[in-house]
Amino acid sequence: MKFSLGNETPQDIETPCLVVGVVEDAPLHGAAGQIDLASGGLITKALDSGDIDADRGNTTLLHGLEGVRAERILVVGFGTGEKLDSSRYEKTCMDAGKFLRDHAVTDAHFCLADIEVENQDYAWRLRQLALSVHRSNYLYTATKKPHEHSPHPLLAASFSGDADMRDALDQAQGLAIGFLRARELGNLPANICTPAYLAEQAREIAASYENTEVEILETAEMSELGMNALLAVGQGSSNTPRLIILKYNGAEENTRPVVFVGKGITFDSGGISIKPAENMDQMKFDMCGAAAVIGSFESCAHMQLAVNLVVVVAAAENMPGSNAYRPGDVITSMSGQTIEVLNTDAEGRMVLCDALTYSQRFEPIAMIDVATLTGACVVALGHHASALMSKHDDLADELLEAGNQTMDRAWRLPLWEDYQSQLKTPFANMKNVGGMPAGSITAACFLSRFTRDQRWAHLDIAGSAWKWGQTEGATGRPTGLLTQFLINQT
Ligand code: BES
Ligand code: MN
Ligand code: ZN
Repeated sequence: MKFSLGNETPQDIETPCLVVGVVEDAPLHGAAGQIDLASGGLITKALDSGDIDADRGNTTLLHGLEGVRAERILVVGFGTGEKLDSSRYEKTCMDAGKFLRDHAVTDAHFCLADIEVENQDYAWRLRQLALSVHRSNYLYTATKKPHEHSPHPLLAASFSGDADMRDALDQAQGLAIGFLRARELGNLPANICTPAYLAEQAREIAASYENTEVEILETAEMSELGMNALLAVGQGSSNTPRLIILKYNGAEENTRPVVFVGKGITFDSGGISIKPAENMDQMKFDMCGAAAVIGSFESCAHMQLAVNLVVVVAAAENMPGSNAYRPGDVITSMSGQTIEVLNTDAEGRMVLCDALTYSQRFEPIAMIDVATLTGACVVALGHHASALMSKHDDLADELLEAGNQTMDRAWRLPLWEDYQSQLKTPFANMKNVGGMPAGSITAACFLSRFTRDQRWAHLDIAGSAWKWGQTEGATGRPTGLLTQFLINQT
């Protein structure tokens, strides 16, 4: 989708559709007020008669207004003007975008950044609006072509703003590219999106941007490095594992990089500890951590941010083949620590632990892993927040703040030593499950044993990466949080 800026008065903008916002019980403001004046009070009349409802998320399309150059006006309700916060603003912008995706309009001009939002300036409102319009306009077409008569999504969106809003709009475009990539990869079925496919995509992305490098490790090389935990997970599948390393060099050569590590289980059947049939299809989304770190890599490379970034993806398929790893197996990880496998379905931490050990070689200034790691995370936080766990308060605060800035929010859970004892076993340095209590935290405790002395944080995105059982598919999260974190490093 093409973004542009314009600063004409709303009634003079020639567009198939002009989008304005209204709030309940408040005088018309900004573009809505100007259109109202130019059209002889039409919006006021429609509001008074009840034809337009300013409840949050309501949309009304008006045609051929006298004194207005736009062919149509889309009036969007934001609900009450009191305590209109970032979250309500974003949701409403998304609703406006969805409405247009599903209508015949392919080009629109948005004036919604006029709406006053608690603690946010115009630049933030504009950036978030553009990003929301882009995200809500998404239509999955990889394996289902739209009907030839169905409405086409938006191709171009323009926004009211002066030239000084260029940076905000460019950031929106940068963020949008990463979200789109993450979502598209996330939604692909596991018969297409295999570890080899992810590696191929990484190669293509690296080839499309300046200052990037890519390296792919296959079984033999990983075996050489002693990555037995990662390999154990992959050995039950004929789709063999890959370790994908993407590098972006935007800062001076000796600047220590940020490292993002993504869980890329392209399908999680549970392995020998097989999952129930119901909802097992959802486990194609078990590579959404990988998708998000790759998406954020692309955002970063697109914006050519002044940072050094390394993305490491542990890609494998967890299947119960005849060579599959079993409950009770003891595996020696790349770090030398031994792991007793009590449940082959706790595979995410197995692939990640070796990827984390591998990543130490980059001497990261910060290392952040991203994973659809535990069902317990969905129980704790639902679909609205990613879970953040870290022993490093400053890093945790930076990540929480980045999430707030992009409305891609995370919530912190404790990572106290108290929980570590749940991983004790007589047969190895640790077992790979910690029992029912605090399942998300004990998973993070497991990972923490592979990140000693490292400034590290873990994001469990089991709830935020997609919505369980619903039809919307992958969200692309937490690409926004990660990319904002990078922007904030510059
Ligand atoms: N990929 C799943 C976690 C998951 C489950 C994410 C449901 C989103 C929705 C992970 O590999 C897994 O199976 N975790 C187990 C861990 C358990 C065996 C300790 C879980 O959460 O049940
Ligand atoms: Mn699993
Ligand atoms: Zn999994």
